[in-house]
Amino acid sequence: MPLDIVVGTQWGDEGKGHITDLLASESDVVARFSGGDNAGHTVTIGTDIFQLHLIPSGVANEGVRCVLGNGVVINPSILLGEMQSLAKQGIRVTPERLMISQNAHLITPGHIAMDKAHESALGPGFIGTTQRGIGPAYTDKAMRRGIRAGLLRDPESLAEAVAADIVKKNDQLSSIYGAPEIDANTIAAKYAGYGKLLAPYVTDTSRYLEKTLDQGLTVLAEGAQGTLLDLDHGTYPFVTSSWPTAGGALIGLGIGPKSVNRVIGVAKSFTSRVGSGPFPSELSGDDAVRLRGTGEQPWDEFGTTTGRPRRVGWLDTVILRYAKRINGLTELALTKLDILSGISEIPVCVAYDVDGEKIQHFPSDIELLSRCRPVYQTLPGWVEDITTARGMADLPEAAQKYINFVTSEVGIPVSLVSVGPGRDQIIRR
Ligand code: GDP
Ligand code: IMO
Ligand code: MG
Repeated sequence: MPLDIVVGTQWGDEGKGHITDLLASESDVVARFSGGDNAGHTVTIGTDIFQLHLIPSGVANEGVRCVLGNGVVINPSILLGEMQSLAKQGIRVTPERLMISQNAHLITPGHIAMDKAHESALGPGFIGTTQRGIGPAYTDKAMRRGIRAGLLRDPESLAEAVAADIVKKNDQLSSIYGAPEIDANTIAAKYAGYGKLLAPYVTDTSRYLEKTLDQGLTVLAEGAQGTLLDLDHGTYPFVTSSWPTAGGALIGLGIGPKSVNRVIGVAKSFTSRVGSGPFPSELSGDDAVRLRGTGEQPWDEFGTTTGRPRRVGWLDTVILRYAKRINGLTELALTKLDILSGISEIPVCVAYDVDGEKIQHFPSDIELLSRCRPVYQTLPGWVEDITTARGMADLPEAAQKYINFVTSEVGIPVSLVSVGPGRDQIIRR
């Protein structure tokens, strides 16, 4: 009765969707446990590209069931839009295929307006949120005044709750932020409509997952965001408002730890970050463009959710060791190795220099982190195109050495190596 957990080891966008799609083919259920449509997960199957924000990345695997756990915050309008897009791409998301936890919280336009107003009030100290209402929705959850998905089954009460909430949000929008108010009645009516459409999907997903695991079936928990965006363990305050780490998977799905089997940390072969906050191995200029790309390729480093160019830098194994600790990683999935082809020498950050002192661990104090300078070890690069490699032996020696170096620096095996966005472009080790 295994539960396998996929988490991001860096600041998100590591390629979790791609790895989840592969592992879903060996799973029965794929479940999102945290975050909302701030996530943007890309799954590429042949010429079809699926951009998923809420629906688990296992959805493109026939027969796999999907769950949105209690830890997720759901914008019903985005969810319905995503279902429509998938239908156009030939995937029907019926209540047989998708279950929504009755305890998940709903995002409303009130949360989005608050997110935007708060960000602009922060001025130069802004977090750089995705402006999807994530922080305000989790705030309401913690304040015990949120609206839960269970209410979708009672559209009339849902409309009343939404209208009352928007009235309160309007008070705050105008009095605190001087921001324009939004129309409570129109929004409430829309939510009643969402209730009618989504009610059949809402259920007690914790019970469903328990039953699934008891039957000996495999559940794959799909993380969103990454370890360094975790509300407790990330680079606070430049984090998201949930727990994208392995512990968050248990809370966000309502499953105990005894079922946990593998914890797979997805690591990009370099590092990226969207939004503000310290980033020790960050690059600028031509080196950054080399890793980011110019936006011509679908996998170039521009946000799936916001379109923003991502900040990029060399691989940082201090971060990966930290992710191993926080998540109890059993292994790594290394993605985008193909992007490093053609770089003659590849620096990898192995430690930090803080005011002349060398440290090997990731500091939990953000002020200290902002003073960390990367200590690099430089590895030889390779010139070959590796996108057609399907086994380790197909990789140039320098690429194999890069992978082995990561294994020895982090102290866990690299079990999967991705050399392109396609379903078949993942090497198993
Ligand atoms: P996620 O948020 O962790 O799921 O990652 P994103 O989907 O936001 O960003 C990863 C991007 O890289 C997507 O466009 C993927 O299709 C793409 N991708 C994933 N693995 C590889 C890889 O090994 N090589 C290349 N070139 N692209 C990849
Ligand atoms: P996936 O699942 C990268 C970042 C935002 C911002 C911070 C807070 O695709 O890896 P929020 O809207 O969550 O309040 O923003 O978190 N962020 C992400 N960065 N990938 C993501 O998701 C992210 N989700 C949130 O850029 O810095
Ligand atoms: Mg993403």
